[in-house]
Amino acid sequence: MNSQLSRRQLLEAGALGALWVGTGCSRRRSAALAPPGATDTTDPDLVVRLKATSAQLRVDDASDSLTNVLRFEGSRLAGPSDAFSQDDSRYLGPTFRVRAGQRVRVLFENALSEPSIVHWHGLDVAEVNDGHPRFAVDGGGQRPYELHLEDRPGTYWYHPHPDRLTGHQVLAGMAGLFIVTDGDDDARGLPAAEFDLPLVIQDRIIDGAGQLVYAPNPMLGFLGDRVLVNGRTSASFDVRAGSYRLRLLNGSNARIYKLAWSDGRPVQVIGTDGGLLAAPLTRPYVMLAPGERVEVWADFAGIGDGVWLESQPFTIGGSMMGGGMMGAGRSGGRSLPNGASFRICQFAVKEKGTRLPIPRQFSPLAWRPPGEVVNRASPRRFAVSMAMMRWVLNGELFSMDDVAANERIRLGVTEDWEFANTGGMMTTAHPIHVHGGQFQILERQVAPAWREAAATMDEGLVDAGWKDTFLLRPGERVRIRVRFAKHAGLFLYHCHNLEHEDMGMMRNFRVEG
Ligand code: C2O
Ligand code: CU
Ligand code: CU
Repeated sequence: MNSQLSRRQLLEAGALGALWVGTGCSRRRSAALAPPGATDTTDPDLVVRLKATSAQLRVDDASDSLTNVLRFEGSRLAGPSDAFSQDDSRYLGPTFRVRAGQRVRVLFENALSEPSIVHWHGLDVAEVNDGHPRFAVDGGGQRPYELHLEDRPGTYWYHPHPDRLTGHQVLAGMAGLFIVTDGDDDARGLPAAEFDLPLVIQDRIIDGAGQLVYAPNPMLGFLGDRVLVNGRTSASFDVRAGSYRLRLLNGSNARIYKLAWSDGRPVQVIGTDGGLLAAPLTRPYVMLAPGERVEVWADFAGIGDGVWLESQPFTIGGSMMGGGMMGAGRSGGRSLPNGASFRICQFAVKEKGTRLPIPRQFSPLAWRPPGEVVNRASPRRFAVSMAMMRWVLNGELFSMDDVAANERIRLGVTEDWEFANTGGMMTTAHPIHVHGGQFQILERQVAPAWREAAATMDEGLVDAGWKDTFLLRPGERVRIRVRFAKHAGLFLYHCHNLEHEDMGMMRNFRVEG
């Protein structure tokens, strides 16, 4: 926070925050303590207005109806034109393409009739820029962001993060990509911009009138009956018979994908949440949980006229909460359970292209040395379970400013954390996400009773890169290594099944400087 602000200014800003956020809900009671929006006098490289608004546009190409959506509408106020682009015929928010090291000013404007706030998923930003629900602004409100991108080049994204409304707003269309580059991809031997294809994968239910249906299963979250890519149904991409870099984001509320090629060739993975791996990896398929990203090298030469990206069957677990249970959509479609198989999108080969050799390696990843970990012998533990029919973290639900003793961490210290999904009879898979940048995944252990189900996913877990979200399966313990070195303050960790998050499967942690 700006140390120039007087106590009086802080109080005023806090009071303003309270007006914006409104009252009437106990989780919002601490809004008056919210710091004001970011201020920074350094000239930004890119200035954009980002408006949360409602719109009517085409979602289902097979239908004549327009669909009511909520979306981020962007406009560039200053900066290079290639840093920011939006397809206004589809619901997704603008895609940012920004150089590492640059500064971006975002003027967020909430034109909805409900509170909202933007979170920059995966980016390491200051507390006031992180989109914590206590910063939510009511309809008509605004909040400025100052993002200084000191992150690794990679595929990040942004989405709303208001308390209890995140699942509904994302489902209605609010999400966008935030790509950080460094201009060295040519030198790395990666495909040129024209062959760099971002794919946002989301499932939805569209009713007979062409409208999105949000009827989440109370325990499993929202599971749609069809899959959309980049905001369209039955997506097909015309490609050249050459090499591509695919940036895949699972922007779904609760659906987990087991991504594979329809012709049986392996998946060549070059990057994860926090950018490129040290070297490409070859997998038969790749698991992608909500919030996760994976970058794939695709070669469309020598495959005839096309190939499908599909999701293959897998088993979440053996309990009643497992993949076999149908989520009941109240109207229209029947949800496909998690673990069902279906096609995602088609790549139709239309022209000759350029085949590049897949690079043998990228740069080594700068992991923190094990010697600096302060708690290797007894990691900070987080139990993932269910209490009173709600998913909880260490037995607790989200509360706006609540920080437990186990949720305070010192700035600049390296720690190991362990998440254990060993909650007894009722269990399911949870994509665990930690705000405040990227971490390393150290190890996974699945309890014997759950190994058979886990084996349907094992070979598709890519734990070798920098991560901000990972899939925690039933009966599994995952150990990660974290370090928060840049920003003190209140941040979040939560399940990225958005219905679980909205239900309170989210907690604060405080980085103390
Ligand atoms: Cu992508 Cu706190 O979320
Ligand atoms: Cu996040
Ligand atoms: Cu969850």
